[in-house]
Amino acid sequence: MKTLGLLLVALLSISGISGVDRNNFKTCDQSGFCKRLRALKPEKSQYSLNVDTVIVHGNVLSAEVVTVDTESEKKTVLWHYALKLSALADGTFRVELDEADPLYPRYRTQLALDGEPKPDGLKLVSNEQGKLTLINSQGHKVIITSEPLKFEFLDLAGDVAVVLNENSQLLVEPLRVRREKEDETAWSENFKSHHDSKPRGNEAVSLDISFPDADHVYGIPEHTDKFSLRTTSSGEPYRLYNLDVFEYELDSRMAIYGAVPVLYSHGAKRSAAVFWHNSAETWVDVVNYADGTVVSSLVNLVTGGHKRRVDARFMSESGIIDAFVMLGPSPSDVFRQYATLTGPAPIPPKFSLAYHQSRWNYVDEADVRGVDDNFDAHDIPADVVWLDIEYTDRKKYFTWDAEKFPHPAEMVANLTAKGRKLVVIIDPHIKREAGYFLHEDATDNGYYVKDKDGKDYEGWCWPGSSSYLDFFNPVVSKYYAERYRFENFPGTSKDVHIWNDMNEPSVFNGPEITMPKDCRHYKPPQDGQDGLASFWEHRHVHNEYGLWNIRATHDGMRLRSDHKYRPFILTRSTFAGTQRYAAVWTGDNAAEWGFLAVSVPMCLSLAASGVSFCGSDVGGFFKYPEAELMTRWYQAGAFQAFFRAHSHIETKRREPWLYDPATAALLRDANRRRYALIDYWYTLFYEHSIDKLPVMRPLFQHYPKEEETFTIDDQYLLGDKLLVRPVVEPGVSSVKVYLPGAASHTLWYDVDTYQAHAAAGWLNQPVTISKIPVYQRGGSIVPRKERVRRSSALMADDPYTLIVALDHNKTAHGSLYIDDGETYEYRNNKYIYAKIAFEPNVMTYTFVNDQASYPTRSWVERIVIAGIKTPPKTAKLNQGDKQVPLQMTLHKGNDVLVIRKPGAIMALSWSIAFSY
Ligand code: GLC
Repeated sequence: MKTLGLLLVALLSISGISGVDRNNFKTCDQSGFCKRLRALKPEKSQYSLNVDTVIVHGNVLSAEVVTVDTESEKKTVLWHYALKLSALADGTFRVELDEADPLYPRYRTQLALDGEPKPDGLKLVSNEQGKLTLINSQGHKVIITSEPLKFEFLDLAGDVAVVLNENSQLLVEPLRVRREKEDETAWSENFKSHHDSKPRGNEAVSLDISFPDADHVYGIPEHTDKFSLRTTSSGEPYRLYNLDVFEYELDSRMAIYGAVPVLYSHGAKRSAAVFWHNSAETWVDVVNYADGTVVSSLVNLVTGGHKRRVDARFMSESGIIDAFVMLGPSPSDVFRQYATLTGPAPIPPKFSLAYHQSRWNYVDEADVRGVDDNFDAHDIPADVVWLDIEYTDRKKYFTWDAEKFPHPAEMVANLTAKGRKLVVIIDPHIKREAGYFLHEDATDNGYYVKDKDGKDYEGWCWPGSSSYLDFFNPVVSKYYAERYRFENFPGTSKDVHIWNDMNEPSVFNGPEITMPKDCRHYKPPQDGQDGLASFWEHRHVHNEYGLWNIRATHDGMRLRSDHKYRPFILTRSTFAGTQRYAAVWTGDNAAEWGFLAVSVPMCLSLAASGVSFCGSDVGGFFKYPEAELMTRWYQAGAFQAFFRAHSHIETKRREPWLYDPATAALLRDANRRRYALIDYWYTLFYEHSIDKLPVMRPLFQHYPKEEETFTIDDQYLLGDKLLVRPVVEPGVSSVKVYLPGAASHTLWYDVDTYQAHAAAGWLNQPVTISKIPVYQRGGSIVPRKERVRRSSALMADDPYTLIVALDHNKTAHGSLYIDDGETYEYRNNKYIYAKIAFEPNVMTYTFVNDQASYPTRSWVERIVIAGIKTPPKTAKLNQGDKQVPLQMTLHKGNDVLVIRKPGAIMALSWSIAFSY
């Protein structure tokens, strides 16, 4: 018994099961609408389209949809709805269904889209026998069956790629007046000691989506589950509701800080996706018919014997039906289609891609100085020191603790002297303290979110009694943005950046640690809209709250420098579109192996869902990482986009030099690897801003026919050139790595040894504690900077080493982006974006945009060509009117050629001619 108990404890700790208090959070059964909707299993949809009302104008079909009482003989019409189907650019369609004449306007999510989506052409091809066929200008078809209502979206081959309402789960609960003596259940709800007054009654929406031929679905972050989503029939649906979950657990479909309602499907045949544009609490059910847990009789019944299909269902508490259907057909296409709707991340300031050192808290100026100096003393590069909530005057944001931080401007100047930056935290809750300017302004001007009775809502957060700014009011957002001006936040400068935390929002004494759903937000006044129509309830906007917060911060940070410098913001709450303003981290994890491992699928899922700038607290927030875990976490973090060590106030200090010298050296090595690749990262983020593809990519994105890759989520691609398989297991001497691309004879070069592996599926990679399995794809060129300095800014003009990894045709391609790293001058053509190409006879470095230039002083100090079987006899650099013969040496079994000091300057194009 005792051993069994111990085993259980050991298993629990290995699997990382932590101390989340599940009682604080609702299950589907405890969430009124989820329970109600999940129980509905109509055999036939009540919804039908009135074909006589169809109008196609421009890119939009509009028509009336009605629900009919299918039980009654007379088929009485129950309710009227307005349908809009729009064709959008890039193989995307949008389906909107709202009540035709709702009692109160229903909420439409406001900030997720990056402006109005671009229209495409739409033609009605036929309208016969209750079926409408439409076609967009690319040739994608939509077939709408009028009764029962169903939408089929066809790919260019004419195959059905996405179906809406196949399973009759389309539902828009109409808003209605409460009947006298009506049972309370539809009109209020309780959870623990919290009462939700639900003044508008039930107003949920739901839609089912089928993906024929799909093997898997992905997306809908943020969860701690696998990247490939699982069938939910025998458990809880995936929940999307931004929440501050203390000690969140692993392998869970529970909601945590972020909610991005985009769902991707993939199979060997195609990829497709649906973006559920809704900011209310949402639950998502998934049924994968290939999944062993789905009863086979059901599989046959539903899929007609086809093994492959995934069905899903979105259920939201309020809003309208607003679904974007994206038809791929490749994974890159769907990722791009989604990021086109919600916008890519703009090019981040370069320092933000380097290493960040954080802790709750660096206690005073001397502490900050000590940390800063120790990085130099131990020769570890670092770009940023962070200050958590304790730097403020007793949690009053935009103020400093006068005793501990009496000279913030000098403290910042010490950092910037070494090219470093400071990030300070600013949370959205405001301390209710008489005399605090922010509280007084907000109270006097009515800037706070209101409670259900219209009074300033009061909750409990870090400062104690707090209220929350209502960013939905443009006046409030503007006021807040102004707070970031240097004169309003003394001690800050362009080198001080911002961390917006707790913006789900977190309310310690609120239902599920957040704001009550019947709180009221600003709505622009409109004639004839009063009472319940004159404000939005928190329930309508919840998942979007953090987005309004960071947008105001972003505006403020641009204002403060007259739009000269790019801001860096970190946010915890995440929604569709967050990437336009901020980077994201995965919140309060713990120093356990399971949390290190899950950082990969979590960031992969966010990256696929538009949020490439993602990382986890390196080392784990709670608890203390022993040397091996810390080492592996630095090594993994060095290859994730947002690379920040952070820790809880009650944990033992753990800056790298506090470990034994051997471990400190390993942490230093991990950081240096990051700095060596800083220009590769920067180029990837530039390319993301243009091509909208994720920076961190699942393997199947580039190998979409290789089924083995569909479920791999412990390794990933960075861009299309590096494959990373971080070691996330304790005590291992080898790891399994899958090398994709056998069909195209792909080679993968170990970046440490240049050893080439022919892609042949699984490889057993031996590892020591210093090994990070990273491979460069044959056919690619990666820029490195090998003179590692104290910060990335100090490396700006350093020379490059170009790593050329040859494919089986002896060719390779790469790219490089260079600008000043911090301003918007790139928008005035002050940048270099160059393509680098290697062919057996010539290597070229040429600018993609001739109009753009940047006066970099960088040059090429080394070119390493791996996989060269027949080395050239001579090499000659051509740059301007210069022609310079170059020295070459062969290494390692004669297949690594090194060109030393080619001296080519990067501000101008160049080429190297080879002769054999
Ligand atoms: C939250 C954040 C954490 C931060 C702490 C204090 O728990 O997730 O990163 O250190 O608040 O501000």
